[in-house]
Amino acid sequence: MDLLTWGRSPWGEWILTHISWDLLWASFFAGFAFLLAHASYMLLSAHRKRAAAETDQLEAARADLPARISRHSLAARLFHWVMAAAMFVLLFTAFLPIVGVQFAWVTWHWVAGLVLTASIVFHIIHATVWMDFWSIWVGPKDIPELKAELLRELGKEVDGPKPGKYPLGNRLYHLAIVVAGLLVVTSGLFMMVRIRTPFFTRNPYLLGDATWGVTYVAHGLAGVGLVGLVIAHVYFAVRPEKWWITKSMILGWITRRQYLEHHDPQRWVAR
Ligand code: HEM
Repeated sequence: MDLLTWGRSPWGEWILTHISWDLLWASFFAGFAFLLAHASYMLLSAHRKRAAAETDQLEAARADLPARISRHSLAARLFHWVMAAAMFVLLFTAFLPIVGVQFAWVTWHWVAGLVLTASIVFHIIHATVWMDFWSIWVGPKDIPELKAELLRELGKEVDGPKPGKYPLGNRLYHLAIVVAGLLVVTSGLFMMVRIRTPFFTRNPYLLGDATWGVTYVAHGLAGVGLVGLVIAHVYFAVRPEKWWITKSMILGWITRRQYLEHHDPQRWVAR
């Protein structure tokens, strides 16, 4: 399987043109293989769940907390759903023609691309100024939490740290989506210069042939990566044991019980 496709420049040099679209199928395969592996693991694993009586005790001890704990502000929820809609339009407009469904996709694609870009700019400002910026990032400080979570997966009772606002898996996922998202957006904005838009005169000579090749390859790689990432994300969102998180992205809140059951109140102080 070739991973990249090559062409000849007007001067006869071999230059990169695109990724090979076989990679799209590889990403689909990886996404579905991951969800099958995870679903089988969940059926067989010893994952330690806190007993209901234990959560009852926790709840009784923290009756001072409101019954509904605010998890996502209206602005954060709007960002999430605008970004999700733009992402789906981008994925379908990009990949339907590649799998044989032909239509005039380019305009839909770059318009959705600009919506995604605007929503990301909004999110960066919102997260930096109004949200707890560091709560979503992962680093060496999270090793004790990783160890504790792994032991819980093995069925052991551990006192070790529980997640703050975001579980470790969510924070790792966010990191992957940041890398793929920023790559697809920056390469896509450059690629807009090559096509006809109402904003500026088309200029396919802005970059050299080899640099355009690298830009298209970067865009394609990030794009197919997003296929696998989106499959995994939707899979977790629809799993019954995660509905409470998905519901909070619609309604904005979780219950006091869910807060105490899944989070460390010292690492995520509910307001
Ligand atoms: C989920 C995100 C995205 C995916 C999966 C995606 C995927 C793709 C793919 C597969 C292509 C064809 C590339 C090729 O022929 O080598 C493409 C082209 C293109 N994309 Fe995206 N893209 C995404 C986001 C964006 C964004 C954010 C923008 C702009 C801000 C954008 C603008 C463009 C443009 C202008 C083209 C070039 C069309 C052409 O040269 O004919 N894309 N995209």
